[in-house]
Amino acid sequence: MDYDIKDLSLAEKGKLRVEWAVRSMPVLKLIEKQFAQAKPLKGIRLAACLHVTTETAALMQTLQTGGAELRLCASNPLSTQDDAAAFLAKHLKIPVFAIKGEDNQTYYKHIHSVLQLKPTITMDDGADLVSTLHSERQDLLPGIVGGTEETTTGVIRLRSMAEKGILQYPIIAVNDANTKHFFDNRYGTGQSTVDGIIRATNRLLAGSVFVVGGYGWCGRGVAMRAQGMGANVIITEMDPLKALEAVMDGFRVMPMSEAAPLGDIFCTLTGNIQVIREEHFLQMKDGAIVANSGHFNVEIDLTALERLSQGKRTIRDFVEEFCLKNGKKIYLLGEGRLINLAAAEGHPPSVMDMSFANQALSAEFLVQSRGTLQRKVHGVPQAIDQEIARLKLESMGVRIDVITEAQKKYLSSWEVGT
Ligand code: ADE
Repeated sequence: MDYDIKDLSLAEKGKLRVEWAVRSMPVLKLIEKQFAQAKPLKGIRLAACLHVTTETAALMQTLQTGGAELRLCASNPLSTQDDAAAFLAKHLKIPVFAIKGEDNQTYYKHIHSVLQLKPTITMDDGADLVSTLHSERQDLLPGIVGGTEETTTGVIRLRSMAEKGILQYPIIAVNDANTKHFFDNRYGTGQSTVDGIIRATNRLLAGSVFVVGGYGWCGRGVAMRAQGMGANVIITEMDPLKALEAVMDGFRVMPMSEAAPLGDIFCTLTGNIQVIREEHFLQMKDGAIVANSGHFNVEIDLTALERLSQGKRTIRDFVEEFCLKNGKKIYLLGEGRLINLAAAEGHPPSVMDMSFANQALSAEFLVQSRGTLQRKVHGVPQAIDQEIARLKLESMGVRIDVITEAQKKYLSSWEVGT
């Protein structure tokens, strides 16, 4: 079997860690039970480009049980958990192409290796797989039924492809399901980003000034958790509505140019480029820590940081010290790549449970709707979203009220007033 991973002997460690993750993924495992009976993905060749973690291993197991033939590569050069990759290759016999720390050339070589499967379904996180398909492997496009996309950045890229008439097959935006972004983006990113920054630096957040770039679902989560640990949180935003929300949530809001001289720790989560750039580095305090938790390593202008520096060294794992020509030092975490997966383990399994339940059911939905969906970006059907919320609550032992007949009637009427 073809694969490219760091070390197959890590498989036993990976197996135990996957078992641990699966304990917190009851909804996905319930779907796996249904898949074992119905085999909805039988005959499907599914090419996946996801962060190769223990949670993703749990998803691969579910898709394989559903009958899919799989290949998997990393959706980021620094997010792979090598033991999870080894587990998948050795125990599930899935061709995996992912090595933590791989260079960009290997990253794209791995995407091409996955495409050798000649997929009928793609499962992407960030849209590099889909964009490689459309630019370099157009010969494969006619065989594709549809794809799913995991993250905000990927959905934005795919919508842009659809608007320009380039997208050649339907995509389900898993990110846009309520049971995905309300939980994964907010609580998952919130906890795992703070976890990554702490693991990399061992800094105390209490009493520090923590600047969060972007107040989308991910930024909200990080701001909430950093504040909870005693940091003094500043938000930077471009969108007036989000900025207003941050103000009313009790945060200080200001432009990055004003936050730069105040911050001890900076974390970007905007999905945009050059959020922290030359003019900001020059204003920062000596010892400022700079990290990113957005999908791509474009939010911190690394070229500018290199240009302003006269030397750099790795001072501890995932911490690079840049000596600026102005005499100050700036510390960059995880090469500016998503710090929650680079220095920590990404989102905990109990939120990935819902995200990946959406992935599994969206793949099934694509098969069921074969040939009927337009070549554009579609939402996850509401019935799937609602069912995942219901199953998650059930797994947590939380019961809720049931609407009465009188209440139903009231909600569908207009005659009853004050
Ligand atoms: N994205 C963020 N956290 C993740 C995880 N634990 N597994 C897969 N993808 C993720």
